[in-house]
Parts: sequence; C-alpha cells; structure tokens
Amino acid sequence: MAGSGLAGENQHAQDRQANVRSPFVRLTELLAGIEPGKPLINLSVGEPRHPMPSFVAPVIATHIGGFAKYPMLRGTDRFRASVANWLSRRYKLPRAIDPDKEVLVLNGSREGLFLAGIVAKRILGERGGKPAIIVPNPFYPAYGAGAEVTGCELVALPARRETNFIPDYDSIPDELMKRTIAIYLCSPANPQGSVLPRETLEKVITRARKYGTYVFADECYSEIWLGDKVPTGALEACGAKFDNVISFNSLSKRSNLPGLRCGFAAGDEKFISAYAELRNVSAPQVPEPLQEVAIAAYSDEYHVEDTRKLYRQKFDLADKLLGQRFNHQRPEGGFFLWLDVTELGDDETAAKDLFKDAGLRVVPGSYLARTGSDGKNPGANYIRVALVDDLKITEEALSRLASFRK
Ligand SMILES: Cc1ncc(COP(=O)(O)O)c(C=O)c1O
Repeated sequence: MAGSGLAGENQHAQDRQANVRSPFVRLTELLAGIEPGKPLINLSVGEPRHPMPSFVAPVIATHIGGFAKYPMLRGTDRFRASVANWLSRRYKLPRAIDPDKEVLVLNGSREGLFLAGIVAKRILGERGGKPAIIVPNPFYPAYGAGAEVTGCELVALPARRETNFIPDYDSIPDELMKRTIAIYLCSPANPQGSVLPRETLEKVITRARKYGTYVFADECYSEIWLGDKVPTGALEACGAKFDNVISFNSLSKRSNLPGLRCGFAAGDEKFISAYAELRNVSAPQVPEPLQEVAIAAYSDEYHVEDTRKLYRQKFDLADKLLGQRFNHQRPEGGFFLWLDVTELGDDETAAKDLFKDAGLRVVPGSYLARTGSDGKNPGANYIRVALVDDLKITEEALSRLASFRK
C-alpha cells in the first residue's frame, strides 16, 4: 500500500537521521526554553567527575618534549607493551597479545568504534546482499554512525528487561549473518549495565567466525563492576586465536580521564593491520605525553579500585533511596540507572518534567535506541541517569528522583 510504504520510508529516514544525531543535541532541543526548577544536576553525560589520578600532571611534565613532534600512528612501543601487559593481567587470555601486531592506540574508543565499521566494510565488502551491521538496541551512537557512512543496513537487536537486557543473538537468521560485516557488543552495557556471560560471548564469536564476520567488543566499562562478578572480556572467550575479534577500551571510565582521549583496539592481527593502514591517512595520532599518562594508568590498579568503590557506594545509595521505584534494579556494571518511567508518561515527558520541576537533566531512553522492525523503541519509557558526580550531589539527585511526584 502506498500509504504504509510512505510511512515505512519516513520511519527509515528518521532512523537514519537518528543514527547520526547525538542524543545530547536532541536533549538540548527538547529542553530549550525550559528553566530548571531547582539547582541543576546534570545526569545526562557519561563523564566521570571523580578525581583524576594524581600522576597525570607529573607524567605530562616529564614528557612535555613529546608535544614537539608528530606521534607515530600505531602508538609508541612502550604504550603497546603496557596495554598487552595489562590485558594479560586483567584477562585469562589463551596467549599473550602481541603488542607489535595486535594493539593500536586510539583517541578514546569512540572514534575507533566508528572507524572500525568502515574498515570492516573495506575488507569484507558486499557478500550475499546488502552489508549489515548488528548492534544491541539501545546502543552507543558511534556504532550507528559507522553503519550510516558505509551504507550498511543497521540491524538493532532489542535488549529488554525480560532477557536481563541481553539481546537474543541466537535469533539472527543465517541469511542476515551471511551479509553481516560486524556485530557490535557492549559489556557492561551502556545504558543498562548488563554483562554478557562468557557462553554468550563464545557463541557469538563462534557464529561470527563461521561467516567471516567481525565482532567489535566495546569494553570501555569493563573495570566498573558493581558486585563480585568480574566481567569476562571478548578476548578471553576467543579460544586459541583472536581471529575476527577486536576489543575496544579506554581510560575515560577506568581512570576518570575522559578528556585524555586515550584508548586502544586489540585483537585480530589482520584487522589491526588494515585498520592501521586506514587510520594512517585519516585518524589523528595520539600525542606521546598522553600515551605516557596512559602507561602510568595501565600500571596502577589502586585508583581503579577507589573508583569502583565510589560507584558501589553510589549504587548502594540508589538501592536505599529508590528501592524498586521506577523498576530500579542494581546493574552488574557501568554507572547508569536505567529507569522505567512509565508512571510519569513517556520518556520525553518524564525528562522534561524532571528538568522543569526537579532540576535533573536526564536522557530520554528512546534517544539511545531506534525503532525496531516490530515498531517498538526499546528505550521508550526509560530514562538514563548517569551517576558520575560525587556522593553528596548523587545523594541529592537520587533523593529528588525518589520523591518525584510521590
Ligand atoms: C558504550 C560506550 N562506548 C564508547 C564510549 C566512548 O568513550 P571514549 O571515546 O571516551 O573511550 C562511551 C562513552 O561514553 C560509551 O558509553
């Protein structure tokens, strides 16, 4: 029918727009002209506001001369060795990562995750139909931007409460797998904090390999676990080889250094090589003094333990103050609350009202997801609340949330 075809086209165009539109820009538009009803607490951006490690300034001072030269694209030998060593300490790997061939420095994981989609498309091209990129839904926008610029179909697998917010990877049909160039995983997940079990990782990797598909594991929350369960990394679930698997990580969340813009990609040697080739003509290099800070950060776990402790205290507060309001459920990892605000209306209405009446800036869940083939947006009726401030501000924010319209 012409009418429904047009509706489908409009939805498609809107979704494509949504793939490359920042949720924060949309939020600014949503709240334009509204004054916060109480002193503003910004809970929208996932930017840790914990203290930076004390070694940052002295390390930069010692290596200041490095700003006088262009850095090598791949990262310094020292940086790559420190990442390989950290990976071996953090994970039970089948063998040590080769720092020369299997590690690359990134300006934070975001640009890496975006460019990875382009590289996968260059390597795999079109195989058996329109190339596809599979992401969890909701998902971090950089995955969708990669799909958009490569002209790939973005297939968003819903991650719903009923399945502990883990997408049903078994449901991917063979026809789709044949043309899928990459599957993005996020564990612990932004926004729900769910952790992918080892068996799920193993199954996804095994199936991806069967079709030559890449698995891009976004693990930037890997160090923020809130209970006793330490998240399994994709590189641990690879079997004897790292083929087809790339882990992306950074110091933004682990070391409270979102402004350092330093992270890495590690895994499949052939992919890393093709990736470095493209990056060599397209991506900015990472300044060497910043890589030195990263080396210091990857050599120290004390500041990471302090960070985890602080997040646990904040989630203890959330458990105490919210109880089960908004269907609150303590996540396994990450630093977000993913709250069902159905009782306040839809997620945009809730975000506007929380801003207007309680001075809380939160992200409507639908801005982080897209409408699925079932016509539903799995983020609708949810809000994302980033617990990134200190304990005092967090307690005030949680108290306002807990008493809102009660
Ligand atoms: C799920 C997820 N992946 C990747 C990133 C990118 O972080 P960075 O580029 O600072 O490493 C973020 C940042 O908020 C994120 O939430």
